[in-house]
Amino acid sequence: MHTIIEPFRIKMTEALPITTRSHRVARLAAAHNNVFLLDAEDITIDLLTDSGTGAMSERQWAALMLGDESYAGSMSWRRFEKTVREITGFKHIFPTHQGRAAERILAATRLKAGDIVPNNSHFDTTRANIEYVGAKALDVLTPEGQDIYSELRFKGNMDLARLEQIIKTKGSNNIPFCMITVTNNAGGGQPVSMENIRAVKQLLSKHRIPLVIDACRYAENSYFIKEYEPGFADHSLMDIANEMFQLADAATMSAKKDGLANIGGFFGCHDDQWAEDFRNLLILTEGFPTYGGLAGRDLEAIAVGLKEALEYDYQRYRHATVEYMASSLIARGVPIVRPAGGHAVFIDAAAFCPHLEPSDYPGIGLVNALYLEGGVRAVELGSVMFGRRLEGASEETAAPRELVRLAFPRRVYTQSHFDYVIEVLDLVWRRRDAILPYRITRQAPFLRHFTAHFALGETPAAFGA
Ligand code: F0G
Repeated sequence: MHTIIEPFRIKMTEALPITTRSHRVARLAAAHNNVFLLDAEDITIDLLTDSGTGAMSERQWAALMLGDESYAGSMSWRRFEKTVREITGFKHIFPTHQGRAAERILAATRLKAGDIVPNNSHFDTTRANIEYVGAKALDVLTPEGQDIYSELRFKGNMDLARLEQIIKTKGSNNIPFCMITVTNNAGGGQPVSMENIRAVKQLLSKHRIPLVIDACRYAENSYFIKEYEPGFADHSLMDIANEMFQLADAATMSAKKDGLANIGGFFGCHDDQWAEDFRNLLILTEGFPTYGGLAGRDLEAIAVGLKEALEYDYQRYRHATVEYMASSLIARGVPIVRPAGGHAVFIDAAAFCPHLEPSDYPGIGLVNALYLEGGVRAVELGSVMFGRRLEGASEETAAPRELVRLAFPRRVYTQSHFDYVIEVLDLVWRRRDAILPYRITRQAPFLRHFTAHFALGETPAAFGA
């Protein structure tokens, strides 16, 4: 059979809000033109994020009932720990309430001002947590990975030559650890090959620098390795995940992605001192090390979800949905990051809106047009999320790319939902000249995209009219 179907049927439904254009115009204005500030009840198809937005399986819901809510040493913790160890092999495992909690504690315990942390591409929370303690987050992606239209596979790979150069010039003493994000979310959800992870690990070992994997989408990355990296076709996704984690000294994880859960995360490592320092701060801010800010039932749902994410039929279906959207948009001429990523389609907003400058925030214009046209919520990954004003500069430095991400919640939307999104995008694409410039009228000192207020630039409000 050629048709790849959803490997599940639907047992419970949730009504989608169907709204009118005039309602959306009013709601977006009330949200200061920032879709993060909209109420979910005003959104028809929510592709803001794939984080914590997935549908749990019946096995996960059943597991919730087994939740052992003992403060310390619960059975749920044991089941969680066993599963995480089976996948990652780490000696020490700590639950956290989500990925950024693991990042924050890692940064607070291992970094000091002036330190450097290379990564293929830091995600916003990782970067912010590193910078918050005064260290520097460096993106070391290959040139192909930065080329939106290169059809090469494994565009999440790290640039080994540049990494070596950085180690030489900055000195390994100033690099407490190096990270690799799988898949590379900020760079288009592109995978990292096993070969690249192995080579990075070898290079780091020579300089005694530990490797930390940001493992949020470890199962999607494993699927890419199986499908596209020579030598892995006969390996199970579990075997591939095992092999990948064996190359790491530690990992941070958001279980809201490939944990197929609505909340949760963990940190894993081998080093006893790292574990000791992590544990102490975890107790201070997250909770006792056998629950780490989560309920026993959350630990149960994650333990089941982590394994479901490694089921081949599930990954094959998920990949097919992203591919379906990507190829439909390419056929209509919409400029998107190629090849399709693991969890999302990323639109090149700069190419979509050539009439706008990065300082007009074309990604915000596109995101807002998608909402106004069809109640679809997407997210900007461009100069609002990653642009910044360098010290002493009067102008902001633009982000390297102006992307808009349509992230796919796991097991939530069906093919007709995606057909609807494609139609909305098609309409906006054909009227792209009417996408408006925005400016920021209010912003926070970091992670500003979540709460910023925007006002329209000069042009009349075509999409808002
Ligand atoms: N690392 C990566 C690569 C991520 O994509 C995220 C979250 C995190 C770390 C932090 O995890 O949200 O559980 O604290 N990404 C979400 C997104 C928010 O929309 O891509 P968290």
